[in-house]
Parts: sequence; structure tokens; C-alpha cells
Amino acid sequence: MHFKKLGVCSDHAGTELKQMILDFIKLIEVDAIDYGVAHGANTSVDYPDYAELVAKDILVGKIDGGIAICGTGIGMCITANKIPGVRAASAWDEYSARMSRAHNDANVICLGARTLNYHRAVDVVKTWLETPFEGDRHQLRVNKIREIEKKFFKPW
Ligand code: RB5
Repeated sequence: MHFKKLGVCSDHAGTELKQMILDFIKLIEVDAIDYGVAHGANTSVDYPDYAELVAKDILVGKIDGGIAICGTGIGMCITANKIPGVRAASAWDEYSARMSRAHNDANVICLGARTLNYHRAVDVVKTWLETPFEGDRHQLRVNKIREIEKKFFKPW
């Protein structure tokens, strides 16, 4: 396992799946922090607030990976990718999860609670956690992503 500590978050659409993923992560003895929103919260919250919490803690090194869940995984993914050093990937099956690690060195995986059932989501997360980055030519491409980040991000 390449991650030392994960941050897991969701908006209201993903609380149930988040809890299931947290339970699964605990079972396989991976260290994780729950960034909310609290399970059972039945009010609507805004996914950018939670994606930012996880992505910012990756930036400062408190955690080194994240799992972000919303209705589709899309909003979490768009938001997390605004933070330098974060490579968030929306994954919907084992193949996309595997490729996001092997080729893109994704450090955040975004899941859609309304598009994945629990068993598929666990398989996707398991694959993502187990797949190493391949490096080589893919490292050169990830370096290019970093260069683009440097060109366009203002210092925070
Ligand atoms: C919330 O209704 C929904 O918009 C959100 O969970 C997510 O799917 C956004 O990308």
C-alpha cells in the first residue's frame, strides 16, 4: 500500500457510502481520517467545502491520499484538482481505478454514490489502493502536469 494516511470525505449524497468505505478501510488496516460530512446528516451541504478539506491536507502533508464521494464524484474531482499537488481521478470501475494509479499517480479517487453500488465501490477502492504508479514515461507526463500547475497557480 503506497498511502500512509488517507482522508475520506463526502457531501450529503455520499454519507452512507463513505461510512461503508471507512469500514472497509478499517478492516484492511489502512489509517484514515473522516473529514465529514457526518453520517446521518440529512441537510444538504456543498461538496467543494469537503473536497477542499481533504485536498488542502494533502498539500500540507497531513495525509497523502484521499477518497472523495459525492453524487457522481464529478464535483469532488473538479474541486480537489484545484489544489496544487493533487491529482484527483473520477473512477467508476476497476479499470479506471487501476489506470488512475498506474498511469496518472492519482492521489485522490472520487466516487459517485449515485452511480456505484457498494460492492462495486469497494472493488474500485481496493484496486486503487493496491495499484502502484508505473513511473517511467508516465512520470514524465506527471512532471508535465506539475509544470502546468506551476505556470498557472498563484502562490497560496
Ligand atoms: C448533490 O445533489 C450533487 O450535486 C453532488 O453530490 C455531486 O454529484 C456534484 O458533483
